[in-house]
Parts: sequence; C-alpha cells; structure tokens
Amino acid sequence: MSVQLPNDPARDDVLAGRPALWLNPALKVNGIADPSLPIRASQVKEAEQNWKLLAPLLQICFPELTESKGLIQSKLIEATSLRKAVGYEAAEYGRVFVKADGDLPVAGSIKARGGVYEVFMYAKQMAEKRGILTPGGDITVLASTQARALFAQHTIAVGSTGNLGLSVGIAARALGFRAVVHMSSDAKQWKVERLTRLGVEVVQHKADYTTAVECARIDAEGDPTIYFVDDERSEMLFFGYSAAASELAGQLEAAGVTVDEEHPLFIYLPCGIGGAPGGAAYGLKAIFGDAAHAFFVEPVQSPCALVHMMSGSKELISVYDVGLTNRTEADGMAVARMSAFVADVMKPMLSGIFTVADDDLFRWLWMAETTQSIRLEPSATAGFAGPEFIVKSTQGRAYQEAQGLTGKLAQATHVIWTTGGAFVPEDQFKKFMDRGASLVNVD
Ligand SMILES: Cc1ncc(COP(=O)(O)O)c(C=O)c1O
Repeated sequence: MSVQLPNDPARDDVLAGRPALWLNPALKVNGIADPSLPIRASQVKEAEQNWKLLAPLLQICFPELTESKGLIQSKLIEATSLRKAVGYEAAEYGRVFVKADGDLPVAGSIKARGGVYEVFMYAKQMAEKRGILTPGGDITVLASTQARALFAQHTIAVGSTGNLGLSVGIAARALGFRAVVHMSSDAKQWKVERLTRLGVEVVQHKADYTTAVECARIDAEGDPTIYFVDDERSEMLFFGYSAAASELAGQLEAAGVTVDEEHPLFIYLPCGIGGAPGGAAYGLKAIFGDAAHAFFVEPVQSPCALVHMMSGSKELISVYDVGLTNRTEADGMAVARMSAFVADVMKPMLSGIFTVADDDLFRWLWMAETTQSIRLEPSATAGFAGPEFIVKSTQGRAYQEAQGLTGKLAQATHVIWTTGGAFVPEDQFKKFMDRGASLVNVD
C-alpha cells in the first residue's frame, strides 16, 4: 500500500527521514474531557489504587522493592550539568528535568509500569475466580504455594521489541506462570538471554514487531491456558503506565514547580506502539489539563504514530506505506504501526510528535552518563530533542503562538522522560558510549 500524506509543514522532512516536529491539528481545548473517548480519567485513579493494593505482593516477589514498600517508582532528576552539555543552559529553557524510568526497578524500563501491572492484575483476577483470593483479602496469598501451583498451569504470552518482553517475562516468572515472549528481529540478544535465564521461552522472529505480536496472538487464540498481553489494544497496560503521572506530579511539587496556564509543563515521551507514552500523557492531562503539553518522539525511520496521526486515516497507516524503512538502533521504538486504541485516545490531547536521528540518541546517551551518571539505552534518550524543537524551531514557535505561550517559556518546565537503560550489560553500554563519544568529538 502506498499512502499520500496531507499537506503539512512537517511532511517533506518526515518523508525524507529528517528530524521534524509535527503539530497535531486535532488538539482540542480540554481534550481529556472529549465525550467521544473510549476511556475515562477516573480509570487512572483506579489504576493508582490497584498499584497500592498490589504493593505488599510486589514487595515479596521483588526484594529490590523493600525500601519503596512495593512501589515501582523512578526519580525525577533536575538536569544541571546535563542541560549545559545538551545546549539548554539559557534561561529561555526554563527548568529542565529527567524522569528517570531507565532506572525503574524490576524491569529497568518504563515497561515495568505496564507489563508488571497487567500480569499481576491478571493473576489477581484468576486467584479471585478460583477462590484463592477473597475480595478484599490478603493479596500476598498470590505468592503462596497453592497460587503458584495454579499459575504454573497457565502461560502468559506477549510480542515485544525487547523491553515489554522483559517486563512481562520477569513478572510472569515471579508468580510462577509459564511465559512465552515473541521477539521481533530488532530485539537485542542480551534481552533474549536474560529472559532465557529466567526460564522464559523466547521465540525469535526474523520479522518486525507487528509480525511478532501477530504470532503471539495466534498462539494464544488456539489455547485457553494462554493469556495474551496485547500491546496493540490493552487498556490494562495503558492504565498501568498512566499511574506514573501522579508520581511525577508529586515530584514536581516537591521540586517547587508550579504548573498552570502561566507556567506550562512540556513532556517528551519516546514512542513505539504508543502504549507507554500514551498512558503517561493521558495521566498527566488528567491532572494538569491544558497546562500540560505532551509530545511523543520517534526515530526518523520509525515514526509510526506521526505518519498515522498526520494521515488522518481511519485505517492504520504504517511507516512502510509512506516509504520509510523502520530501521533504527532504538530497538524499543522500532515499530512500524501504532496502536489504533492509543491513536484514538491521543487525537484530542496530544500536542505533537517529533522525530530524531539515531546519531543524536548516542550523543545524548554519552552526555547523560558523563555529566550526571544517568545510564540510558538509545531509545530512552530521544526526548532530549524536545526543548530545542519547542523553543527554537519554526514549528515550535508556531505552537507557542497558537497556545498563547509566547513570552512564558522562561517560566516553563520541560520533562524529558528517559525510558530504559539500567539493565544494559557493561560491554554493550561501553559500545554505546564509544559511539556517542565519537559523535560528540566530531562537533
Ligand atoms: C526504552 C523504551 N522506550 C520507549 C518505548 C515505547 O513504548 P511503547 O511501545 O509502549 O510506545 C519502549 C518500548 O518498548 C522502550 O523499550
């Protein structure tokens, strides 16, 4: 299929694989309250409650959660020396923070928020159905021998570019489920090995992510003992991620940040299929409304959310349909076709999407480590392009004007969501750093 994208200031750059900022023409005032949306903001609160309920169980399953009493949370770090290295020292950039999901416990990426949530909620439902857990009863019974024996008869399956597989596989094995992860060809070998060591069955496909998901779906359809974590449609994953918003809101408040019409908050979220950035963005819009400006970021050759949302098509458009390759070192974002569910939900509330070149990912990776010891994988660094796009580019200025933000940027806050990295093995990380260093020295 070949698709013509509509006339748009970003179109030529997108099609040529050059970094670009697309502004969403469907963005609405108070878009979170759009009555056509299939979900409600109250579901974010429910997810927060569920996370609290699961905490005592998570603490038993994952000793690294002892200090946080079972909560899976990351730090908000103010970019001090890092903002200087990246070029955001000037006052016009306001305050710049990194939301350090690369250090999230349990799975080492933002995927811990979605994958762990869905697997544990599924286990809870199953235990309730079988009478092991009574409604309102002690959740830690899910770690009992009886519950584990039940879970051992069931399989959790998922398709992944790597990190979702890690999070779902780790969560499933911690409760005693069997787990099968269908990996796309982009998945890094160390992620495959880590899962295999945990007893997860990994099926390595020579095809892209959409195909890996399809294979997992087909396997599960034919077998009632397999539960399929559906990254293309899952509301459970989405709301698991969405609970990150209240965590961030509390951290911003503690850092003395005001968010309102006069003090805009910009959030930059790396996007693959859209679930993780969509959930976090939705949660933030539920808290801050129009004072929060959420942007997705994608690799120049894999801008699946950008091309689909720009197309305005009801049918999903893939990056191949517009002649792009879906080739990138950013494995977590190597996705050719976004989630239709996320596209619908984001339509009235996403401010825009920008794209980044692979070399820049390595440059930022090197800067984050050398300045503030923030360890990232390439996908996780993409948001660093955000402040420059907003403050300096023609499209960014057009956005400021359209939103009444001109003159307010010095009092703005930028949050760069860094989404993975803690689990990257040392030898692999060294290679990333060498590539980053060579690029920085060229400048
Ligand atoms: C490090 C990292 N960042 C961002 C994403 C994007 O998440 P999603 O595919 O839900 O859009 C992924 C996905 O695997 C990832 O691994």
